[in-house]
Amino acid sequence: MHSSPNNPTSPIFSTHEECVSKLKSSQLVVLPTETVYGLAASALDEFAVSKIFKLKGRPSTNPLIVHVADLEMGSTVACINDNAVKIAKSFWPGPVTVVLPKKDIIPQLVSAGLSTVGIRQPAQKDFLAIIKSANLPIAAPSANKSNQLSPTSPDQVIDGLGKECPSVLDGGLCEHGIESTVIDLSQKNPVILRPGPVSKAEIEKCLNIEVKECAEINSIDSVARRSPGLSRKHYSPNTPLLVKNCFNDLTQIIYNKESDLVICHDEKELEYFKKIDIKALSLSDDGDCSTIARNLYKTFHTADKMKKKRLITHFLENAQGLAKSINDRLNRASIE
Ligand code: TXA
Ligand code: MG
Repeated sequence: MHSSPNNPTSPIFSTHEECVSKLKSSQLVVLPTETVYGLAASALDEFAVSKIFKLKGRPSTNPLIVHVADLEMGSTVACINDNAVKIAKSFWPGPVTVVLPKKDIIPQLVSAGLSTVGIRQPAQKDFLAIIKSANLPIAAPSANKSNQLSPTSPDQVIDGLGKECPSVLDGGLCEHGIESTVIDLSQKNPVILRPGPVSKAEIEKCLNIEVKECAEINSIDSVARRSPGLSRKHYSPNTPLLVKNCFNDLTQIIYNKESDLVICHDEKELEYFKKIDIKALSLSDDGDCSTIARNLYKTFHTADKMKKKRLITHFLENAQGLAKSINDRLNRASIE
């Protein structure tokens, strides 16, 4: 385990001031957001941004999200339109990224050569305060190696990045636990590229128009081309994960006591597996969606450390809103 976040003798944890100074001098820091931890650099500093790609092992075809202090800072990096103003007024600061035509100030590397840039104002108060103090837009993908799970706590960041891990600002467990909703507003018809904590229904209500979801438009592969980081295999634990349709399906499986680990949704389900002596973890006490989202990646991380051969869970039933976004991540994390 890593030393206590508040332990000043631990070199890995940084203060607000240290983070600001590092960001201003082309260095990387790990910052908490309300969704997942971000690997941060000045979005205006191509050299610093190149370090993000290198550390993550991220293909240069996958663009980064730029975090801004407010819409005004957003307008220095992107061409703001009416829909963007509406989204920002309703959901910022918060977990919605808007993709807009980019301005030249943003290096090509940040936007992976695209003519657009994704921006959002994070709600996490320490991150927001750092953007304001540095007075810089901050590029930050999730603070994990490419194709690994997004981290939702400092421990996961440090485990995942190992020796190369830059200084971390400790913000505890992330509030939402899954990545922001990404919506492309660069064209007339808005498209949700990645479902997230803010639902399609909430976005439609705000924009007062019908909004397409990438899955409705075409296959996931074409979405992957439109938004390079949204490919099928992107959010999976290292241990193969089998996702069944419902809890009842889990009760039909023949388990191997040694090599299987079940990820339950609530205490009742956990109780069932305890009784039949099958190892299980639970995502929540009572099946509450926000709690399940918050604990999802943390639980995958814990499960990976248990070195089993197979993880088994099920989709949320009758999913709407956040539950649909959780199912999206379960689907991407699954082996089939
Ligand atoms: O919640 C979040 O969004 C977190 C925190 C740190 O803010 N960030 C995050 O970043 O999840 P990342 O890089 O792991 O995922 C960003 C996703 C990628 O799939 C990327 O392809 C897509 O957003 N994206 C970024 N800029 C884009 C653009 N200009 N056009 C289309 N997709 C874009
Ligand atoms: Mg990521």
